[in-house]
Amino acid sequence: MAYETLLFEKRQGLAYVTVNRPDKLNALNRRVMEELLNCFQAIQKDEEIRIVILTGAGEKAFVAGADINELAVQSPVEGKETSQRGQRVLDLIENLGKPVIAAINGYALGGGCEIAMACTLRIAAENARLGQPEVKLGIIPGYAGTQRLARLVGKGRGLEMILTGDPISAQEAYRIGLVNQVVPQAELLAAAEKLAQKIMANAPLAIRFALEAVNHGLEMSEAEGQFLEATLFGLCCTTADMKEGTRAFLEKRPAKFVGK
Ligand code: COA
Repeated sequence: MAYETLLFEKRQGLAYVTVNRPDKLNALNRRVMEELLNCFQAIQKDEEIRIVILTGAGEKAFVAGADINELAVQSPVEGKETSQRGQRVLDLIENLGKPVIAAINGYALGGGCEIAMACTLRIAAENARLGQPEVKLGIIPGYAGTQRLARLVGKGRGLEMILTGDPISAQEAYRIGLVNQVVPQAELLAAAEKLAQKIMANAPLAIRFALEAVNHGLEMSEAEGQFLEATLFGLCCTTADMKEGTRAFLEKRPAKFVGK
């Protein structure tokens, strides 16, 4: 796969997607969003890929937001379409069926914070700064930031970030549960890979169904979510990996999962 604004690499079950516009702090223009859509659609179909690490090129930014040059000239109808197109890309990332780890290597602002929130897990470098500064530009978050932020960190903290527009440090993001870990910049990719390896040791279908149970469950009442969980639990019981995983435990050996 060759892209103009992304770097893509695949190694031993791991895919690396890097937004590659470092001179513009990896801002998300229309081209980046189209390429992210194509890239994640291809990743979804690629059975060799178990986990994705998403990051930004350079040492300064993960993604410094939607491209303000494009935003500045949008009509209301185009603005709505841009927002919905972006929401679809982020929904694909969130519901990919395989985990996506955001390796936040600097500024994650606006669309950058939103794309990180659509990822399954987030690891931030110590220099990262996360925020939703849209109100400073006269707009509101448009790639589901008004929805995902409050769900991740609670309504009060989410609204504080969205209404002040002020970015927060990596440590503060960790404190409020916006990121899972904070590590030195030089160790960021290694930390993401370590987390990926831990997840990859587990049964792929169980990972997929667990993601579905949590993602869809959060959109339902708890009783309906529990019903979904029980149904997916039952589905796990039909898999070869469930038989292998339980047998391996009883035989005191590591399990060999095949994703079936
Ligand atoms: N859209 C378009 N271009 C952007 C951008 C964005 N969201 N964020 C940064 N850039 C560009 C800058 O215009 C600049 O381009 P230039 O060299 O052609 O002038 C380049 O990236 C470097 O950014 P610069 O502002 O010079 O770096 P800095 O270190 O002084 O400041 C930030 C870094 C992140 C604080 C600052 O770039 C910023 O506030 N960006 C916008 C963040 C934002 O509001 N995002 C939400 C958009 S909805």
